[in-house]
Amino acid sequence: MTATTSAKLESPLLAQVYQDEDGVYRGVEGNAEWAAEIRRLADARDAVILAHNYELPEIQDIAHHTGDSLALSRVAAEDKHSTIVFCGVHFMAETAKILSPEKTVLIPDAKAGCSLADSITAQQLADWKAQYPDALVVSYVNTTAGVKALTDVCCTSSNAVDVVKSLPADKEILFCPDKNLGAHVKRMTGRDNIHIWDGACHVHEEITGDMIAGSAKKQPNADLYVHPECGGTNAALDLADDGVVSADQVKVLSTGGMLTAAEQGVADGKKNDVLVATEIGMLHQLQRADSSRRFIPVNPEASCPFMKRITPAALLKSLCDGTDEIELERDVIDAAFKAVDRMIAIGNSPATR
Ligand code: 13P
Ligand code: SF4
Repeated sequence: MTATTSAKLESPLLAQVYQDEDGVYRGVEGNAEWAAEIRRLADARDAVILAHNYELPEIQDIAHHTGDSLALSRVAAEDKHSTIVFCGVHFMAETAKILSPEKTVLIPDAKAGCSLADSITAQQLADWKAQYPDALVVSYVNTTAGVKALTDVCCTSSNAVDVVKSLPADKEILFCPDKNLGAHVKRMTGRDNIHIWDGACHVHEEITGDMIAGSAKKQPNADLYVHPECGGTNAALDLADDGVVSADQVKVLSTGGMLTAAEQGVADGKKNDVLVATEIGMLHQLQRADSSRRFIPVNPEASCPFMKRITPAALLKSLCDGTDEIELERDVIDAAFKAVDRMIAIGNSPATR
């Protein structure tokens, strides 16, 4: 649910903001004048700006923290500002609210949804649980607050394997909603008592095994970073098993894990190309981390339309108007908190900026 806070702030740029035919806020460039206004407004609102690695480059650059789902959740839990402006998609802002219910959490455009989060509803999960009453539920963070409220422990792409490994080996697991991440977790844990929901991200589904194999065969010396939501994740690992590339060339990583790997590449003096199988917003951080290597998208069309709704105009309007505010029922927050709090306690520290 979203609403509007009452406090308004003025900006000379606000009059330029309009909505295009898709309702996306436009009319303001992400230039130096805009950047100065954003910082001024954020200070006036006592707000911290968080941005996911798939956001537009100017949004990533103006944010106080840019990172993956796990890292940003941890910042949301610990940061001391009274307002969080979450430049990402709706489930990410909801997760921040679950972790910090006393704070005001804003998302610059509440229509920034997620096709993966939409692939399971709370009612569907309740029905699934009824079929397996003794199973534990592991939900990817890309789910609604209502689904999280029915979950034992959440995970992100960064710590999904560690989360499942932390659960008793003899317990059946219901893993939702991403079938590709689920298949990867099954492969890495060797568990055969995981039931996997048939959901997917429409952007990552289009990064197929054939595409990944085709790119790797054309550039056999390139490293390959693969996000586990990709349709071709297991196919990428098969390439190493089949000897097409060496095992140390292929890495299945969260977006923050990709940044860590790029930073490690600098330390190791690596100069070979990197094929990147994920949403193309990630290339901005990778190229910043290492300008001496080429980071090449496996699918240059893989752009998340939801992430790209957070434009410079949307962020400006959000800070001026105090919109769109995330509001969740107290019982949903209380029911979801334990699963999300367990999530942020498990696993590595993905790189942020
Ligand atoms: P990360 O957790 O790797 O940032 O991924 C989030 C996401 O939505 C991927 O599509
Ligand atoms: Fe959701 Fe896919 Fe966009 Fe990530 S890339 S926010 S999973 S639609």
